[in-house]
Amino acid sequence: MAGGAGMGLPRGAWTRLRSDTEPFALGVASGSPTHGSVVLWTRLLLPAGQGPATVRWEVAHDDKFSRLVQTGQTQALPGLAHSVHVEVQGLEADRWYFYRFVAGDATSPMGRTRTFPAPEAVVARLRLAYASCQRWEHGYFSAWRHMRDENLDLVTFLGDYIYEYPNASNAVRVPSGGWVLTLDDYRQRYALHKGDVDLQAMHAACPWLVSWDDHEVQNDYAGSTEGNSGQAVADFAARRAAAYQAFYEHMPVPASVLTRAMAGLAEGAEMRIYRRLHYGRLASLTMLDARQYKDAQVCTRDGKKGSSTLNPASCASWNDPARSMLGPQQERWLETELARPVSRDSHWNVLGQQSLFGQRDFKGGPGQVLWNDGWDGYAAARTRLTGALQKHGVANPVLLGGDVHENWVGHVKADYADTASPVVGVEFCGTSITSRSAGNARIPELLAENPHFLFADSERRGYGVVEFTPKQLTTTLRVASDVTQQDSGIETLARFSVQAGRPVIEKS
Ligand SMILES: [Fe+2]
Repeated sequence: MAGGAGMGLPRGAWTRLRSDTEPFALGVASGSPTHGSVVLWTRLLLPAGQGPATVRWEVAHDDKFSRLVQTGQTQALPGLAHSVHVEVQGLEADRWYFYRFVAGDATSPMGRTRTFPAPEAVVARLRLAYASCQRWEHGYFSAWRHMRDENLDLVTFLGDYIYEYPNASNAVRVPSGGWVLTLDDYRQRYALHKGDVDLQAMHAACPWLVSWDDHEVQNDYAGSTEGNSGQAVADFAARRAAAYQAFYEHMPVPASVLTRAMAGLAEGAEMRIYRRLHYGRLASLTMLDARQYKDAQVCTRDGKKGSSTLNPASCASWNDPARSMLGPQQERWLETELARPVSRDSHWNVLGQQSLFGQRDFKGGPGQVLWNDGWDGYAAARTRLTGALQKHGVANPVLLGGDVHENWVGHVKADYADTASPVVGVEFCGTSITSRSAGNARIPELLAENPHFLFADSERRGYGVVEFTPKQLTTTLRVASDVTQQDSGIETLARFSVQAGRPVIEKS
């Protein structure tokens, strides 16, 4: 069943992309905004063998492009799949802009983006969405279409933008293709997603901060250790490098993430995508990378690779303090950031990461069964992180996550091994855009077993919206009525609020 090099989209989908004469059929996007800059992205779809292409870009105050702010041009190179990453500098803080690209006689769709407020600015409000996990054949991207109406300043995407899997047997929509293994495979899988009009529309609506999880490469991979989906490849470092390159080619991230890595990417050098941004004095936004540098999972059952759930008491290395989720360098960077005065002075400190943060014991009563791929499998590293939040007096930590295809809402504990330990922050782990949950009839039992969580739901797909003001945050869980229908509606599943200075989640 596993495919080799060159296996990609089934003929129908490939023909659809190739025969599209519109070079901007993959849409536009913006991301990584600061108070003076933003990254503008597109990727030209051009016939095979096409050389470098000149792309002009325009940033304007108005959607007619009559009041131009900046223009420029750049080269879309075949070696980077004719992707374009323009880092526009010198913009005004805290304002909306329109942008578009021109190549030959083709003009791209228009995008809308914004800069962040200046670091010292007093800001009344920030509205962001958190989302993850959009397996193509598990449903339609209606969530993205409805997200356009949420009046957002920012989207944070926390991982699993693509999946490396072949078609699901019970697919809602086909095709996605075969196993994704080569650079060409990854490019085609991203292109498939980027061709979706609902996803395109949300990319064009506001800037995104993007991270990744395992499926951008392979299920359950960890650092330089391969995962467990499909057949093993001969050279995992090369596969990871190809996957990272394709991620870069399709995401609105600055070129600096690639130039740092380009020379040695095939040998496993890093692509540094973790970063921290400030939204005035209202919020800091730290996007973490909990996949690229993590140590391999320990004590996976039956000597297999990847993840499993197990009794940690039977695993000698479970609490080994040498093991890390973020890697030593990112951990040090994070602690340095958390120690800065701005971390105490910001009203909210948001940490976007990949998975469920709080402990989730699957076993009722005495004893534990924990999942070794999530933070539970890196308990010492988790305690170091919560310890740093406490030690540096970080104001109002808010953990955002994804990965588990279920909504979980809870209080972040200083030490999950100690039920009396204080609450140091709050956590909102989002459901998937489309990816199925296994379904979980045991949710009430799990909530009782893990009382630091106050809400969980495994049934619904969607996203969360968090509105921050200096006084409080409000999180609204939005879910598709039926992810298997292209015209699905959207509903509110639950709403929560937290007052600044008091890490207690109230359900409203
Ligand atoms: Fe996922």
